[in-house]
Amino acid sequence: MIEFKHLPIMLNEVIDGLNIKKDGVYLDCTVGGAGHSKEIAKRLDGGMLLCLDKDEDALSVSKERLKSFNAKFFHTDFKDFETALNYFGVQMLDGILLDLGVSSYQLDCGERGFSYNIDAPLDMRMDKTQKLTAKDVVNTYEKSELARIFREYGEEQFANNIAKHIAIDREKKPIETTFELAEIIKKAIPAKIRFKGSHPAKKVFQAIRIEVNSELDKLKETIIKLFRHLKPSGRLAIITFHSLEDRIVKTAFNELSKDCLCPPSVLFCVCGHKKEGILLNKKPIIPSESELKENSRSHSAKLRIIEKL
Ligand SMILES: C[S@@+](CC[C@H](N)C(=O)[O-])C[C@H]1O[C@@H](n2cnc3c(N)ncnc32)[C@H](O)[C@@H]1O
Repeated sequence: MIEFKHLPIMLNEVIDGLNIKKDGVYLDCTVGGAGHSKEIAKRLDGGMLLCLDKDEDALSVSKERLKSFNAKFFHTDFKDFETALNYFGVQMLDGILLDLGVSSYQLDCGERGFSYNIDAPLDMRMDKTQKLTAKDVVNTYEKSELARIFREYGEEQFANNIAKHIAIDREKKPIETTFELAEIIKKAIPAKIRFKGSHPAKKVFQAIRIEVNSELDKLKETIIKLFRHLKPSGRLAIITFHSLEDRIVKTAFNELSKDCLCPPSVLFCVCGHKKEGILLNKKPIIPSESELKENSRSHSAKLRIIEKL
């Protein structure tokens, strides 16, 4: 295992936003390298920190980094956080953090197959005990399904053409590695676009990663369920890295913080929906200029925080 390096994004903003009580109970749903968790744990005295991750490498590194604190760990997808809470014997929480997506460690760890910059078997599983890999997606999904994934999860303009090239190439032999896939994507993108802006394979790699790890499935429902495990004045902070995730978080937080969800055409409320929280920031918090300079991976990050009434 390479050294687990990951700079926590908007660390001060997250810690201030969670308004940590020293005797509180906190849940980090995506502990990663414990960058945020360590700062939460340092502020506790009599409180407790519960850490989840679906990547066992992240959990073993975090266990070591947090060994002198009152922190407990559970290997799970955070969509099953209730199983972890039952295991810990805890139901209500003072604060929850979700720092979505992949860690720098996962991207930098060649053999994990997340990066188009490192040649490796196509894998991209955050949870190595899961069966479905990127190789399965690329080699077994219908062409139309691949195009949909590239369009929806990658917002890729050339989704159809890339899917078509993949379908042709995999007839000759299975597509096995990140570099093989990146080459096929390059061929499917017009040359004048290929050399502009970010790497031509960036969007498709993001889309496949989201599919392999079911990153957007049930995300909104999970956010709402997590929120309902907050004590009054408890806070839920979520960092997202692309517009699809941010839209889901924004919609969930809007529903939780509005008194009525009737369409604008309805003159009088018939839904009876009552707000359960208040948004701490109407617009998402974004990294400072200095963080953007120091950490290029912070570029697309957005932080939203909601407080339970
Ligand atoms: C951006 S990193 C978190 C970094 C961490 N906040 C830190 O400062 O070190 C995201 C982590 O969340 C994990 N993860 C992503 N989606 C998950 C899910 N649905 N359930 C559990 N863990 C998840 C990834 O495996 C990764 O370790």
